[in-house]
Amino acid sequence: MLGIEHPIVQGGMQWVGLAELASAVSNAGGLGILTGLTQPTPEALLKEIARCREMTDKPFAVNLTILPTIKPVPYEEYAQAIVDSGIKIVETAGHNPEPFLPPFKAAGITVIHKCTSIRHCLKAERIGCDMVSVDGFECAGHPGEDDITNMILLPLAARRLKIPFLASGGLGDGRGLAAALAMGADGINMGTRFMATKEAPIHDKVKQKMVEASELDTALIYRTLKNTARVFKNSVAERVLEIEAQEGPTRFEDIQPLVQGTKGRELFDDGDLEKGIWSAGMIVGLIDDIPSCEELITRIVAEAEEIISQRLGQMLSA
Ligand SMILES: Cc1cc2nc3c(=O)[nH]c(=O)nc-3n(C[C@H](O)[C@H](O)[C@H](O)COP(=O)(O)O)c2cc1C
Repeated sequence: MLGIEHPIVQGGMQWVGLAELASAVSNAGGLGILTGLTQPTPEALLKEIARCREMTDKPFAVNLTILPTIKPVPYEEYAQAIVDSGIKIVETAGHNPEPFLPPFKAAGITVIHKCTSIRHCLKAERIGCDMVSVDGFECAGHPGEDDITNMILLPLAARRLKIPFLASGGLGDGRGLAAALAMGADGINMGTRFMATKEAPIHDKVKQKMVEASELDTALIYRTLKNTARVFKNSVAERVLEIEAQEGPTRFEDIQPLVQGTKGRELFDDGDLEKGIWSAGMIVGLIDDIPSCEELITRIVAEAEEIISQRLGQMLSA
């Protein structure tokens, strides 16, 4: 359905989803995704798509994240740029993508919507999305407010959905891929794991920090604002949590200076790990190296194939 060799997708990542990473994932047989809003304007997105096309002749997609932002975003213009570019796969996330479906469908675009609950998956199916990415509680970024892990979400999706779905959140190795397929998913979507690859356009210190980190090194911020985000547990995230723990309702103005997107972007560029907040998922606990995307994808597929044919196969023949 996506025209890719391996069932592995690289989810949209703000400031990380540039042509270097997306093309490397696509060249390795997965689906790379450019993050639309990382580009400052729809025109810049068109240029980034053209740059990515020079780096790969394989399919790649664009992510359109529809979330409340401090500065209003011209979503319609970004959607139009995607249509005009001739891109054939879009990953939507955040709010209901319904308003964007007619132009995407008219352009023959396959829409994958990212959902953190079964009710949202069912709604996405109902409004005409072609596929969903089921983002469990383990995931980096916004896991929603239900706190349901993929052990429950994936079998539920398999029981209830008619459209294909990707498992997303907490995935990064062959065991995860084999398990996701066993639970009914058609493939996996990874964010955090792809940050720790040679081609990810972020500072080496960020990647090294992920190698050193354990599964305990993420934090859930913005819980009090009902806009939960899973981020790396650094001093800034801890300070945000302290403010959120204070008595009375949290005022966004109190935490805004700490969580500015520009600081997160600078952190990725200069490697100053305590400058701002950055999204990371629990899978950091299973990241031990910084391979190329080709090495990573080949390894994950080989591990999963071995588990399915050997370990699981032997259980049946025993
Ligand atoms: C640094 C970073 C930035 C992200 N930014 C976005 C984003 O802008 N839009 C989006 O839909 N998802 C975003 N995500 C979420 C990923 O696309 C994906 O759903 C998530 O990382 C899956 O969980 P995992 O990190 O455990 O693999 C981001 C994730 C990371 C790690």
